[in-house]
Amino acid sequence: MTESVTITDNRTGESVEIPIEHGGIDGKAFAKHMPGVWFFDPGFGATASTSSAITDLDGANGILRYRGYPIEQLAESSTFLEVSYLLLFGELPTKEQLDNWVHDVTYHTFIHENMRKRFMEGFHHDAHPMGMLVSAIAALSTFYPEAKEIDDAHVRYKQINRLISKVPTLAAMAYRASIGMPFVYPDNQLNYAENFLSMMWKVAEPHYEPDPVLAKALDVLLILHADHEQNCSTTTMRVVGSSHSDPYSSAAAATSALYGPRHGGANEAVIHMLNEIGSYDNIEPFIERVKAGEERLMGFGHRVYKAYDPRARIVKEQADKVFQVTGKSPLLDIALKLEEIALNDDYFKSRNLYPNVDFYTGLIYQSMNFPLDMFTVLFTMGRMPGWLSHWQEMLEQDQRISRPRQLYIGPGERQYVPLSER
Ligand code: CMC
Repeated sequence: MTESVTITDNRTGESVEIPIEHGGIDGKAFAKHMPGVWFFDPGFGATASTSSAITDLDGANGILRYRGYPIEQLAESSTFLEVSYLLLFGELPTKEQLDNWVHDVTYHTFIHENMRKRFMEGFHHDAHPMGMLVSAIAALSTFYPEAKEIDDAHVRYKQINRLISKVPTLAAMAYRASIGMPFVYPDNQLNYAENFLSMMWKVAEPHYEPDPVLAKALDVLLILHADHEQNCSTTTMRVVGSSHSDPYSSAAAATSALYGPRHGGANEAVIHMLNEIGSYDNIEPFIERVKAGEERLMGFGHRVYKAYDPRARIVKEQADKVFQVTGKSPLLDIALKLEEIALNDDYFKSRNLYPNVDFYTGLIYQSMNFPLDMFTVLFTMGRMPGWLSHWQEMLEQDQRISRPRQLYIGPGERQYVPLSER
């Protein structure tokens, strides 16, 4: 079998054979032989925008691997910071590499006081923490102007470190500002997830002691969110980064992309949906409205997974552990029933609509007392190492600036009409 495709231009009868490599055909080879003819692919459903060695996602079979390691093994045995190292540098760290990495992340968690006093306190009292976080991440570039030196590996490492360290601090700061509570400084004795919980919940106790089950669950959820190859926000990171913006500006753009309800905002939307359904009796009518196209079943469906999202299975296991500590979420029964009905209904089966990672994460976050508008903030913390890994890979590949084409369908040339004649 020849690993190639042959394309014939029926206008001229000319054919061109293009090899299939890594499951793709080279768009440049096509463009060379067919000048002025473009692939039409809105939403990039059939376009590979890059090659990547970071995350392997087989949506048909529900497989997700970071750098070749199955997500199930990483969730079971690793930590978020170890996984971040793996994503960024390609290999699991040695003990010494891990110690250095954890030390570097831990000792960059503080932020400039001006950021808190002048910047974060300037927001309106009910500002959405995602809006605050997007702006705060962008503002970091003004504190670290050397970040523009993207060709210097040492400078790059420093900014990667800072972004992973400081986002939880900014996230907790946004939350504390929104409820009028004083900011809690990072506690370098705690691990990544524990420190975040301390900055969120500490009140007057001299040392905050996070519940180990809840801290572990948060760490696992961060691992599950750490990367997902060329999703909307990661693509944004790579597109903005391809213009050689600094990493803070690129990460702020990626955070904005994540904010939307079709992407990272879905976990928040799931809780709104479950609240709206409210009781068992309303589930069937809700499903009917979804099938009639009047509603979407939030937390279901995925552009790439056409099988059960492997992350959703792990989230469900974590939910059981968390509920043993916090008590069961009152919305859990509605969620379980909704899932059962949907998985047995032809509408959902025929469209391969299964629960995705967001279906149960919201219930866990809610049980851990996170307010709804913090859910996407938690997703941002998890996805940051993934964005940065792709940004770094893109720079190392020396990728050209992202600049797609369009099929123009507007009017042809027309003459300007003066205002008085319109
Ligand atoms: N509820 C009901 N019907 C759906 C849903 C849903 N959640 N998702 C897709 N469909 C239907 C859709 O109406 C269409 O039907 P038809 O062929 O009759 O027109 C068919 O399934 C294909 O859907 P699509 O809109 O072409 O699929 P897409 O790949 O463009 O969208 C999606 C993927 C995730 C945006 C979509 O499934 C969705 O809106 N889901 C709910 C939001 C959600 O849970 N998002 C989180 C995604 S996972 C976390 C992340 O990556 O951020």
